[in-house]
Formats: sequence, C-alpha cells, structure tokens
Amino acid sequence: MTRKLFVTTALPYANAAFHIGHMMEYIQADIWVRFQRMQRDGNGLREVHFVGADDTHGTPIMIAAEKEGITPQEFVAKIAAGRAQYLDGFHIAFDNWYSTDSPENVELSQGIYRKLRDTGLIATKVVDRFFDPVKGMFLADRNIKGECPKCGAKDQYGDNCEVCGAAYQPTELVNPFSVFTGSTPILKPSEQYFFKLSDPRCFQFLRDWLNTPGRLQPEMVNKVSEWLGEAGEKLADWDISRDAPYFGIPIPDAPGKFFYVWLDAPVGYLASLKNYCEKKGMDFNALLNDPATEQIHFIGKDIVSFHLLFWPAMLKFADHPVIDKLKVNVHGHLTVNNEKMSKSRGTGISPLRYLNLGMNPEWLRYYIAFKLNSKVEDLDFTGEDFVARVNSDLIGKFVNIASRCAGFITKKFDGKLASSLSDNAQAWIKRALVTEAGAERQASIAAHFEAREFGKALREIMEVADITNQYVDDNKPWVLAKDEAKLAELHDVCTTALILFRQLTIMLSPVLPGVAANVRKFLNDAELVWADTEVSTGAVWNTMLGRTIGAYDHLMKRVEPKMIDDLFDAPAQQAAAAPAAKPEKAAKAKAAPAVAVTETGIEVIAPEISVDDFFKVDLRIAKIVNCEHVEGSDKLLRLTLDAGEGRMRNVFSGIKSMYQPEDLIGKLTVLVANLAPRKMKFGVSEGMVMAASAVDEKANPGIYILNPWPGATPGMRIS
Ligand code: 2FM
Ligand code: ZN
Repeated sequence: MTRKLFVTTALPYANAAFHIGHMMEYIQADIWVRFQRMQRDGNGLREVHFVGADDTHGTPIMIAAEKEGITPQEFVAKIAAGRAQYLDGFHIAFDNWYSTDSPENVELSQGIYRKLRDTGLIATKVVDRFFDPVKGMFLADRNIKGECPKCGAKDQYGDNCEVCGAAYQPTELVNPFSVFTGSTPILKPSEQYFFKLSDPRCFQFLRDWLNTPGRLQPEMVNKVSEWLGEAGEKLADWDISRDAPYFGIPIPDAPGKFFYVWLDAPVGYLASLKNYCEKKGMDFNALLNDPATEQIHFIGKDIVSFHLLFWPAMLKFADHPVIDKLKVNVHGHLTVNNEKMSKSRGTGISPLRYLNLGMNPEWLRYYIAFKLNSKVEDLDFTGEDFVARVNSDLIGKFVNIASRCAGFITKKFDGKLASSLSDNAQAWIKRALVTEAGAERQASIAAHFEAREFGKALREIMEVADITNQYVDDNKPWVLAKDEAKLAELHDVCTTALILFRQLTIMLSPVLPGVAANVRKFLNDAELVWADTEVSTGAVWNTMLGRTIGAYDHLMKRVEPKMIDDLFDAPAQQAAAAPAAKPEKAAKAKAAPAVAVTETGIEVIAPEISVDDFFKVDLRIAKIVNCEHVEGSDKLLRLTLDAGEGRMRNVFSGIKSMYQPEDLIGKLTVLVANLAPRKMKFGVSEGMVMAASAVDEKANPGIYILNPWPGATPGMRIS
C-alpha cells in the first residue's frame, strides 16, 4: 500500500510576520516531507500533501484591523501577502497555503460542531466572562494576562501558560489585567457553549488513543496522561464560544455567538487540504477515507493541550475518518544563545534580516536539522556554533569533495566519467556506504529521517563524507593530474569521488533542496529518489559510469563570522556605543556629570556634525500598534511599532509617567530605526522612540514623544 501523508504545521496567527521559531518548525516539517516524497512503497512514490494556512480569527486580529481602520479580512490579506518571501526564501514547499477565514473552514467547523451537538457533547452554561470596563467589551483569552494558576509564572496569557504548558480558563489567572487598558477586568454573565470534555466517553477515548504505540512521543504520553487524571476527573469542559463583536465563525443556531478561535483553527488544516483538493481535482473525502492516508501535525510544545486533548476528541466524536491515523509531532522551542525567544513578541533572529544579509537559507536548514531530534527538546541557535558547523560540514566535508575532483573531469576527460571502476574504487565505495556488519548506511539514514532524528541522519551522512574525503586525500588527484601516465588512475579516483558526492547529495537533499537541484544539473541527473542510493542494486554507480557531466560551479560559500555580528547586532557592545535612549537617560544622568546648560536654560547644542553623520541615523514614522504596561517597571511602557517593514517591533520607552497606554495606541510617532537592539531586563528593545525632555529633569520631569502632522505614514523616512 502506498502511504498517503497529509502533513501540516501549526497555523500561524495572521497578526504578524513570521519569526525564526516559525521557520524552525516549517524547516523541520519540510525536511520530513521532502524525505517522504523521495520514498517508494511498492511501485509508486509516496503521496504527500503538505498544507498550511493563516490562523485568522480572534479578538487580537479584530482589534489590530480596527486600529488600522481596515476590515479584519483586509488585515489578514495583508499579512498573507507577506508569507511567500519567507516560505520561498527558506525553501519551504507547502503544496497549499490557505486561510481559516474561508468557506471551507466555515462548512467544516460548523459540520464538526453539529455532529458533536448531535452526539450530546455540547452544553450551554451561563458563566462569568471577563469584561474590560474601560474598553467596554468582553476580553479574549489573549487579551488578559496575569499569573499562571498552576506554576505562578508572571505575564501569562489567559488560555495557557508558555512556561509550564498548562491550559486553563482566563478567570483562573491570578492578578489578571486587560492588555488594552491595564485595567482589572470585571466579570459579566454570558451564555456560553461548551464542548463536554468531562464526558466519560472523552476520557475513555483519549486514554486509549494516547496510549496507542507509536502515536505520540513518550514524554507527551506522560504529560497528557497527567492532564487526564486517573479517571478523567481532571478534564474540564471547554468553552468554545465567544460573544460578538468577534472575528470568527458563527455558531449555528446561536445568534451573536462565534466559535472561539481554537475551535476552528485546527479545522483549518482540513480546510486547506480541501481547498487544495479542489484546486487539483482530487476527491477530498476519498483521500480522508482512504485507509492508506495518515494525518501528521508538526507543532510546538506550547500548544499541546489543544492538539492532544480537544482536537482528537473533536475528530473522534465528529466521526472523522483519520482519527485512528492521527499523529502529532511535538518539538521544543528555538532559543538564541540559550535565551528564550518570545513567540508573541517576535524577538530573536529576524528571518528576513537573515536573508537580506545574503545568508544562505540552506545553512540554517542544515544547522537546525543537525540539532533536531525526535524529542520535545529546545534547540539552541548559537552564532559561533552555527559558523563552525556549517563551514566544517557543508563546506569542509561535503562541497569540498566536488570542488577538489570535478574540475579534472572537465579539463582532462571532456566532462566524461570513467566507464568502469577499479577494484580499489569499488572497495572504497562499499567502505563509505556499507557498515562493517554489512548494513547499507542509506537504510539507517532513511530510518533516522523517518523517525525525525535528523541530527543522527546528518551525523551518519557526514561519516560517509569523512570516508570520501579520506579517499581523496589518500589518492591525491591533484598529484595524479601532473603525471600523464596516471590519467586512468585520476579518472578512476575522480569518478569514484563524484559517485560518492552524488550519493551524499541525494541523502542531503531533504535538507539542502537548492544545492541538490544544482548538483542534479551539474551531474546531468533526472529527479533523484531514495532508491538511487541503494548499494546492493548498484543504483549508486550504474547510471554514473560513462556519463558526461557539466562544468562544476561553486555550490555554496562559507559563512563569514561577520554575518553573525550583523544578524545579532552584538547587543552588549552596541549598547555602550548607542545614543542614550530615554529610558536609560536617568541612569546615565546619575553616572555622568551634569550637562552643560546655556544662558537660556537649555542643554548646550552638541558639536557640529556633517550631513553624512546625520544620515547615519535612520528616523522613521512608526505607528504605535499596541502599548502596554511593563510588569515590574515603574518607568517603562512596552510599545509595539509598525514602521512599514511588514513586521512589528518591540520597543521599551521610559514614558510611563506621562502617558496611558490606551492614549498612545493608534498614534504615529518617530522611531530611531537603525539603533542596535538592546537587551533589557524585560526583553529586547528594537529601536528607540524619540522623546523630548528638559535638561533639569528634577525641576521639569516631563518627557514628550513626537507626533507627526497628518499625512505622514508608517515607514516614511525623516530627514
Ligand atoms: O499558537 C499559534 O500560533 C496558533 N495560531 C496555532 C494554531 S495551530 C492549529 F490549530 F491551527
Ligand atoms: Zn504555568
């Protein structure tokens, strides 16, 4: 039976550009998908459908659109338009990218809901919901923050804790506050719709589902078992409704009520597949009902409760055909230099910046793959480690083989490979590709890819590269080339090295699809599949012997360490060189001598600079998309700024004494856009908002941010 794989990654909220954590998940899934596409079951290649979509619904998107004066649909479309540059840029080959705000998703979500209702798993209850008395609206879970009721972590959202992963109701938060106004929310009664997860049927099903061997990683089985309790006594009904105004899918027969975004988000996986099937003329229902079909989700550890409790229970009791074939692959988070990155604040490495610096996307794919395993472990990106790993493995071991041997084939043999191999060459090929116990390495490498043990797969591939390099070092083609009597030997050595190089390329191609495409061209190869790596069938060398190949062109450059400096902006160093931002001004004033003052009482004008000096400072109009208090700080506000870059910036500003967050939201201001990011106690500040203050801060403590005249728009440069 040819396996049919329906693969997805978590659907990103359509309220911001991708951050590097998204790319890590997509790269992981894309590698697995590309590996699967190369596999044959019987006569046919596996059928793989890899789809994604924007997760569009919910209050944050509704509010963000409102602030921009556009509809949520327009807002979401703007975000969606920015996706391709990231996906194409990092070779992420989704078959379809769709939206949860789609007719397919409405139909599927409402259909699932009706089935759940018919089976007695929907109940209504009047419950108290949080309401922002200043803004006059019910608050979504993500609009409320407070302390996690389970582990006490501060600054956690109202639905689940990013620290311990617990899911809870927003009313359980300790010391809750509205993220819009900072006010303490009040409770107001409202009729809500619940999915009855506490029904014994759910517990019985989940316990069996969870414990089916091979379905989930062992640590996930343990975690969810804890959530289930001994007899399901810990399972609480799940509130799946939200009150109007809400950007979402209407609940059938319930005027003014909408599905909570997490109800229709995973259904979006199916909606995207359905849309893809419609485009391709495939039968969606037939595909789902096919016994050969498997459904595999790649997700992060922070959204496990939604995928391992609610989603399977929903699918089961809505009679979804693939519930028995559902697998969820959970990964840890990406940390940078061992620091946690925040999903919602988008700190860390900007994927677009990476690309704009001219950094090769396949370096990152390789590095991430090298560090990935099948466990739910965090993965750390460290600059030095990245440079060392990429340069040593990809340049020093892999590309080096072709760059040392291909030229001789072109120069000395008109581009033609030898038509037979010496016994010594054949012995080396076997030595590289077959273990001493007689097992083909390609088989264990394939097993590692299948099991998402990418690090193990790449280590074994690099062992093959090491043996190949040893062969080249031992036989020294550059020495053989100098001796006309040794041309046959040179031909034999270079052909052998290129056969092994091709083998390495095929095995690396799920990770390095761009390089693999170039190697295919250079070696005049057709589409390569995993079966081409088999040693026992002779597939490895048969097609290569006597073949004419193209001229070798550089496949990949080394990573320059300087690139990493640019990627990270070396925060500590630049903080010292950076002009004083307002929040630090007080601290700086304490250390620095008193500022010189003119007769008129203003700070003495700074020494003259050239216009070139001035233009080094990139001042931009930025829109304050969001503004919040910073817990634990009596000076700072946290601003979310849109400077027209297709991403949001997080900037801390010491203006709390002067402004209420809600007064600033939606206003334009001036941002120093090329200031090095600064790591502060509360997170990274990605720029500085300009503000005026008097020289004598004690006597005149006001601090005033700038506001441009009407007509200025985000991203305009100020000069
Ligand atoms: O956490 C998130 O970013 C969600 N938008 C993930 C949704 S995954 C699926 F359910 F759609
Ligand atoms: Zn917690």
